[in-house]
Amino acid sequence: CDPFLMLGIESSCDDTAAAVVRSDGEILSSEVTGQAALHAAYGGVVPELAARAHAERLDIAVEAALAVAGTRLAELSGIAVTAGPGLIGGVLSGVMCAKGIAFGTGLPLVGVNHLAGHALTPRLTDHLPYPYLMLLVSGGHCQFLIVRGPDDFRRLGGTIDDAPGEAFDKCARLLALPQPGGPHVERVAAGGDPGAIRFPRPLLDRPGCDMSFSGLKTALLRARDADVAEHGGLPERRRADLCASFQAAVADVLAEKSRRALAVYMEEEAPTAPSFAVAGGVAANEAIRSRLETVAAGAGARFIAPPLPLCTDNAAMIAWAGIERIRAGHRDGMDLGARPRWPL
Ligand code: KG4
Ligand code: ZN
Repeated sequence: CDPFLMLGIESSCDDTAAAVVRSDGEILSSEVTGQAALHAAYGGVVPELAARAHAERLDIAVEAALAVAGTRLAELSGIAVTAGPGLIGGVLSGVMCAKGIAFGTGLPLVGVNHLAGHALTPRLTDHLPYPYLMLLVSGGHCQFLIVRGPDDFRRLGGTIDDAPGEAFDKCARLLALPQPGGPHVERVAAGGDPGAIRFPRPLLDRPGCDMSFSGLKTALLRARDADVAEHGGLPERRRADLCASFQAAVADVLAEKSRRALAVYMEEEAPTAPSFAVAGGVAANEAIRSRLETVAAGAGARFIAPPLPLCTDNAAMIAWAGIERIRAGHRDGMDLGARPRWPL
């Protein structure tokens, strides 16, 4: 019966998160504990360390989510947990935690695809009607999806190699900026000339919505080395130009591919309330976001970017996807498994 409360659990990468969400879209709590400090010395997420940290922190996260929401397990109507895709150790930790609670309380258990969690977020934040177009753009993902229902996604294209966030992180590493690199590249880019260096716009000459970003870092490496050779080091102004030009190349590719994806969506779905939503850490980038906003406006679609804490990894989106799944009659048993690979 409505409204009901759902607990969400997320541990598929390097954030341990738990949340309580009400079925009318009210977020009662959303606790996220990152592991940046844990992995900082290794230059990337170490799966074994991540899994152990999740196992240690999940109970604490769940207790905190319940306390902040001012609720008890007995008042919930279900438990939603990320069952993949992601790092297997972390996903397993979350699934085991959720199963334990479901077993102890008798509450229904719902396994959620992490990507579906991201993709359904605009329904939680903006009550967006189906079907809408979604660009998922983070450190690990980059794809266009037409979202038609809680379990009905049509993939229009995506990256064939690196995700844009990954490319930003590599760009930052090459220019001796801190990790995660996106926000730092954006900050430095603000003082540079986006037209200074002509980086490639991969796959723009080919039809469709697929993208490629791995060539950009090679181009950046070459441009940086040329500068270093010429100036005997990298002057601040050139570093700013490199960041600005790199960001412009990513923005150009995302904008043009979004334009194409929107055209397919408008033509084939004929939506009555056309909407284009973005999610993922890269959606935090102002330059990229304003380009996407312009593209949406040009196609006559509403543009939606959920607030950043709900764009990046969190458990509120998992609870919400669980709410949508339970409403649609889905339910998982104690045999729910962890799926490291799980395309939508
Ligand atoms: O969605 P997210 O928090 O985590 C996953 O990848 O799942 O995204 C993190 C990624 C990182 O690669 C980070 O560098 C990038 O998003 N990012 C940005 C910005 N803020 C975060 N990239 C470009 N510009 C930004 N302002
Ligand atoms: Zn994610």
